Amino acid sequence: MKKLTVHVGSAYEIYIEKGLIKTCGGYIKEVSSAKKIAVITDTNVAPLYLDTVRSSIEKEGFEVISYIFKAGESSKTTDIIVDMVEFLAENRLTRKDMVVALGGGVCGDMAGFASAIYLRGIDFVQLPTTLLSQVDSSVGGKTGVDLPQGKNLCGAFHQPRLVLIDPETLNTLPAHFFSDGMGEVIKTGCIKSKSLFEKIENADVKEDIEDIIYSCVDIKRGVVERDEKEQGERALLNFGHTAGHAIEKLHNFTGVSHGEAVGIGMLMISRAGEQVGLTEAGTADRIKKVLEKYNLKTNDNHSAGDIISAMQSDKKRTGSGINFVMLSSIGNSFLHFAENDKIKELFGI
Ligand code: GLY
Repeated sequence: MKKLTVHVGSAYEIYIEKGLIKTCGGYIKEVSSAKKIAVITDTNVAPLYLDTVRSSIEKEGFEVISYIFKAGESSKTTDIIVDMVEFLAENRLTRKDMVVALGGGVCGDMAGFASAIYLRGIDFVQLPTTLLSQVDSSVGGKTGVDLPQGKNLCGAFHQPRLVLIDPETLNTLPAHFFSDGMGEVIKTGCIKSKSLFEKIENADVKEDIEDIIYSCVDIKRGVVERDEKEQGERALLNFGHTAGHAIEKLHNFTGVSHGEAVGIGMLMISRAGEQVGLTEAGTADRIKKVLEKYNLKTNDNHSAGDIISAMQSDKKRTGSGINFVMLSSIGNSFLHFAENDKIKELFGI
């Protein structure tokens, strides 16, 4: 079993252990004096793990209620959040009670946001079941939903009380979801750890998945401790995401996964960086090979011009340009501000 502590606000623990989902109730008991626990999950995950999680939590003496929403990004709406919060109210959860987010990134973001706003904030536990949520989104307290105007535009920073990662849940994950999560693993190596990147390049990550998850989470832990509210360093975690979000938007958030879009974004910005002499030569080729190794896309059917226009119309963006995350070399990243009228030039068009 591996354990990490995130020292932010009230510190919280992250446990990584195969089979943890079967014993999650014991870990929850250690941090909670709740009477009721609401397990929030989706239609993909509920048939696989809800009964196991429910009986482990009930064994510790908690009353368990559950809320199941339709799996997928299209559920990440304010309507479903209102429904979730009303469910908590109808079941009279108090400030001492707790929510468990059982599922992938969408579930963690939504259950976390419902916990952030219900009674002005109650505790929640992240029990991530996808690679993407285990290596990235379950740690650091970003919660929220999409708006018609754009992705993740409505949310709150609300740190979990506990994160329980069971790598065995990845055994039931369809292959394309595993690749999707690898997009974030590759990103983590690119921005902060040459040795992690080399491991991904050279080894079979599935053999060593517990260590890979630990490395990613440990890196993210450090970033979040130093910059919880994304005033500086945390923005480095968005490497590849500016172009990635633009690509997702051009596809109306269907047909291209987040990891795939971020992969193409990482490649675009690294090629641009090499062209203007900010990124070590050969970096983009190494990223391309790794994306191919994990069955991620390396190009998109939209032109660079369309992707740049979509970046510039991002509703989250303000001001006279875009702050891009760039690599000086694998494992070393920095923020580079490009004025609006210099962005096409940066991308060589
Ligand atoms: N996924 C990026 C962050 O948590 O900041």
